[in-house]
Amino acid sequence: MSLPPQRAELFYTGKAKQVFRTSDPDVYWIHFTDGATAFNGVKRATIRDKGEVNARISAHIFERVAAAGVPTHLLGAPSPVDHLVHRVDIIPVEVVVRNLAAGSICKRLGLEEGTALPRPMVEFFYKSDELNDPLITDEHALMFGWAEAWELAYLRHASLKVNQVLRAFWDELGVTLVDFKLEFGRAMARERRGQILLADEITPDGSRLWEKGTGRHLDKDVFRRDLGDLGDTYRELFARIFGEQLHGG
Ligand SMILES: Nc1ncnc2c1ncn2[C@@H]1O[C@H](COP(=O)(O)OP(=O)(O)OP(=O)(O)O)[C@@H](O)[C@H]1O
Ligand SMILES: [Mg+2]
Repeated sequence: MSLPPQRAELFYTGKAKQVFRTSDPDVYWIHFTDGATAFNGVKRATIRDKGEVNARISAHIFERVAAAGVPTHLLGAPSPVDHLVHRVDIIPVEVVVRNLAAGSICKRLGLEEGTALPRPMVEFFYKSDELNDPLITDEHALMFGWAEAWELAYLRHASLKVNQVLRAFWDELGVTLVDFKLEFGRAMARERRGQILLADEITPDGSRLWEKGTGRHLDKDVFRRDLGDLGDTYRELFARIFGEQLHGG
């Protein structure tokens, strides 16, 4: 039996996670930190327990999504704040799925926040911090070689499938899934070459979650808009999902 991959050198420090290489060249180790940023890094804070809540929620959701037939990068969780994942070549097209209008689409199109959409909507954004992740069309992605046509078709299809799974999941917990962001990548390992995997994370950092009935925000908008204590909000979300307090506290 082979040993599980061991953590090796730090490879990338992002705004919310650190990525390490491992003893297996096709496997990365992702460490979820307590760092919070908003407005592309302009607003920053450290939020106790955020890394753990995000890592555990993301792992839980990725397992459900995989069970529904959308392959993900997740291999396992060596600790409550770490994921072992298949190394991928991240496709620089971020996918946002919307069920209600909120955030950037409201500004862009003059919609009132909370406007119901007749059906789930998929938007593509170019993953570029320098450019503030601009909205793009298929044409841009194809023209500049960010993704191929079949990949864009897959991203749309898989994202809508993930939306179905997530909507049912949050619905049962009394939460409306307003929107969320996904990243996908191309698997690097020889035996998986060409396969597209759902990567990165699915967390309340990259989702809008509104409590049914009250409309209370249970996501990173609490931090973006100073609506309360993000740590308390995330711990409450954890308890809602797992039926127990984080750290039994
Ligand atoms: N399986 C994977 N293989 C390779 N890279 C990955 C994988 N999953 C996620 N990543 C990348 O690892 C990084 C995670 O760090 P984090 O989310 O903190 O970055 P970030 O500050 O949001 O910056 P970025 O703009 O690069 O996303 C991201 O760049 C993400 O795209
Ligand atoms: Mg990120």
